[in-house]
Amino acid sequence: MDKKLSHYIERIKDSFARNTDINKEFIFFLKEKLKIADLDILSKNFEISNYQIDLIHKFIDDKKKGIPIDYILESSFFNGRKFIVDNQVLIPRPETKLLVDYINNLYLKKNAKILDAGSGSGCIGISLALDNPKILVYANDISFQSCEISKANKIMHEVKNYYLINSNWLSCYQENIFDLIVKKNGLHDIKTIKDNNSNFRVTFGKK
Ligand SMILES: C[S@@+](CC[C@H](N)C(=O)[O-])C[C@H]1O[C@@H](n2cnc3c(N)ncnc32)[C@H](O)[C@@H]1O
Repeated sequence: MDKKLSHYIERIKDSFARNTDINKEFIFFLKEKLKIADLDILSKNFEISNYQIDLIHKFIDDKKKGIPIDYILESSFFNGRKFIVDNQVLIPRPETKLLVDYINNLYLKKNAKILDAGSGSGCIGISLALDNPKILVYANDISFQSCEISKANKIMHEVKNYYLINSNWLSCYQENIFDLIVKKNGLHDIKTIKDNNSNFRVTFGKK
């Protein structure tokens, strides 16, 4: 078995000739998952362990199945922070940052209560809680597995003002307690944030 990393870098290029992103993703994988230093990645003679070779084989199999790199790495970068993800949650979408920016630019009074409804990985609510330490962010998701992931992210980021519950939408809360409710479904763009028919629902006031 060839133990030289350069052998696998060449092999990836040949196996995925049509995927122009593969080199970038593989280098990211080597750094993030296998913790290999830049200079070692560049070296023609750097050798890797059997365990690392097994992980590279798994990377190749997963990519052939079309699994996104974030699920392979079990992490995703959103709004400048790393979030744990698995295939039970949506990979945080870059455009969701626009929603977080939009809310960060609102006047949010001290102790304002915001609900992140359908929190998934927790990327929206945790970002808001970290960016606005004086507000209170509530989050819920009907999926227990999603809640486990957002709980892991809450712990990883040591968020104090983020309160997560496994529930069906608003069923577990008293009526009219939130100053703002954020609900995101699927794809969207910034213009739709203010549009009632949008995939973003940002509901203001205690309605
Ligand atoms: C499109 S994902 C969005 C996840 C996350 N907000 C994000 O932007 O990455 C929608 C989330 O809503 C959750 N969900 C669906 N139905 C729900 C319900 N009835 N009550 C609470 N959460 C629900 C799903 O489990 C899923 O995590």
